[in-house]
Amino acid sequence: MHSIDDNYPSDMKGKCPKDSEIEMTELVLPNDTNLLGNLLGGRLMHWMDLAAAMAATRHSKQTVATVALDSLEFRHPARMGELVRLHAKLTWVGKTSLEVKVKVYAENMKTGSVIMTNKAYLTFVALGDNGKPVAVPPLIPETEEEKKDFAEAETRRCERLKRKNRDIECE
Ligand SMILES: CC(C)(COP(=O)(O)OP(=O)(O)OC[C@H]1O[C@@H](n2cnc3c(N)ncnc32)[C@H](O)[C@@H]1OP(=O)(O)O)[C@@H](O)C(=O)NCCC(=O)NCCS
Repeated sequence: MHSIDDNYPSDMKGKCPKDSEIEMTELVLPNDTNLLGNLLGGRLMHWMDLAAAMAATRHSKQTVATVALDSLEFRHPARMGELVRLHAKLTWVGKTSLEVKVKVYAENMKTGSVIMTNKAYLTFVALGDNGKPVAVPPLIPETEEEKKDFAEAETRRCERLKRKNRDIECE
């Protein structure tokens, strides 16, 4: 366990999820696809990690490290030539950790169809210049959906920490 850095950020006022949300758009190019012309899962995970990390950084104003990615299902493929639209928004904040929900949509620019392909929750830890966890501003959920996400995040966090501790016991 790391001790919390004494060097807390000065701006510790609570912030709303909308203050840090991120919209990111990528075009699926041939180099991003498998032999069927569908977006590679690994490439999509990379984009999701980036979008979520940008939201977490915007909120915390710190460098963040990914510590967990909840189960990820690929519901629909995104095809070569389509746009992949990622929407990342904070759902919960602890003392030094932050949970971000990322929703992914595939848009066919020719037909105008938009389909949700994925959703995942990623957890980050804010790190100070010395690489140790550092406190982050609280999150103030505003809408009904944000309040629901915030409440449900406690359960998800509990499950993650149980998994983490179980992994440590297995070593
Ligand atoms: C980030 C890191 C320095 C944190 O160290 P640590 O010893 O786990 O730190 P702590 O136990 O003090 O936990 C810090 C916070 O992270 C949370 N956390 C740690 N592991 C977690 C996990 N697997 N799931 C959810 N939360 C986790 C803790 O609950 C705590 O949250 P809180 O301060 O909001 O209560 C360390 O886990 C690490 O280096 N991990 C690798 C990160 C990495 O390389 N990522 C990929 C590239 S970015």
